[in-house]
Amino acid sequence: HHVAVLKGGLSSEREVSLVSGFECAKALRNVGARVTEVDAGRDLAQVLAALKPDVVFNALHGEWGEDGCVQGILETLDIPYSHCGVLASALAMDKAKSKAVLAAAGVAVPGGGLYDRFEAARDHVMAPPYVVKPNAEGSSVGVFLVFEGANRPPQELAQPEWTYGEEVMIEPYIAGMELAVAVMDGKAMAVTEIVPSTGFYDYEAKYGEGGSTHVVPARMPSEDYDRALRMAEAAHAALGCRGVTRSDFRYDPVKRLLVLLEVNTQPGMTPTSLVPEQAAHLGISFDRLVMWIVEDAYA
Ligand code: DAL
Ligand code: MG
Repeated sequence: HHVAVLKGGLSSEREVSLVSGFECAKALRNVGARVTEVDAGRDLAQVLAALKPDVVFNALHGEWGEDGCVQGILETLDIPYSHCGVLASALAMDKAKSKAVLAAAGVAVPGGGLYDRFEAARDHVMAPPYVVKPNAEGSSVGVFLVFEGANRPPQELAQPEWTYGEEVMIEPYIAGMELAVAVMDGKAMAVTEIVPSTGFYDYEAKYGEGGSTHVVPARMPSEDYDRALRMAEAAHAALGCRGVTRSDFRYDPVKRLLVLLEVNTQPGMTPTSLVPEQAAHLGISFDRLVMWIVEDAYA
C-alpha cells in the first residue's frame, strides 16, 4: 500500500505534528509500507489528487488538520484516512460544543463556559483558581491557570496578538492530578497519571525533555481507575469517534471527583506522547500501533 502521511500543517501545533508525522512514517516504513510524507499546506487537495495514495495517515494536530476540514477534503477525494471523520473531528475540536454533547451522554465535564476574551481580561469571571483556554486549540497552547489570590485575569487575552479566538473557555480549576486514557477500537487502554515537573502540564512539560513524568497505571483506587476507563469509552462513542483517541481528565483524589476535559481525536505520536506509552504498556509496539491505525482507516 502507498500511504501518505500528512504532517506539519497550518496550526499552532505544527512543530508537534512534524514530529508525530516523522515517527509514524518511520514506523510504516519499518513494516514495509511505501510512504510519502506530505507537509500539508493550502494546496493539499491538489497534492493528494496528483499523488493518489491508497490511504492517508493523518498526523496533523489542531486547527484545519484535526477539526474536520482536512477530513472533508479526504472524503471529497474518496481517499480512506485514519482517525475520526468530519463530524467527530469538528465536534471534538470545539471544547464548548463537545462538552454539551458529553454532558448529555452522562459524562462528567467541568463547569464554566465561554466568555468574550476582553470581558475575561477585565475581571475575574469566577473565583480563582480557574483555567482559561482557547476553545479550539491543543497542546496547552494559550492556556492560563489563574491561581487563588491572583489580582487580575491574564492580560494576554486583551492583546492584539491574541489569535486563539474571540471567545475563551473558562473552567473552575480542579485540584489533584491530570490523567489520560487512550481508546483504541472502542476499548480503553489504560489510565496514565501525569506528574509535571513544573506543576502545570503545559507545552514545555508535554514536549520538553524531563518536562513531566508519566505513571502507567495511574496510582488511584481501582474503582476510580475503572470509572476513568468507562468515561473515556463513553466519550469516544458519544462523539462518534473511530481509530485511536485520547481523553484527558482532572482527578481530585480527596473528593474522588473525576471530570473529562476533552477528547483528542488525533493524539500526539511523539516520543514523549501518551498513547504510544499506553500501547507499550499493553505490549503493543509503536510500529504495530501505527499499522493498526492505518488498517482501521479501511474498516
Ligand atoms: N494535541 C496534542 C497533539 C495531543 O493531544 O496529543
Ligand atoms: Mg487537546
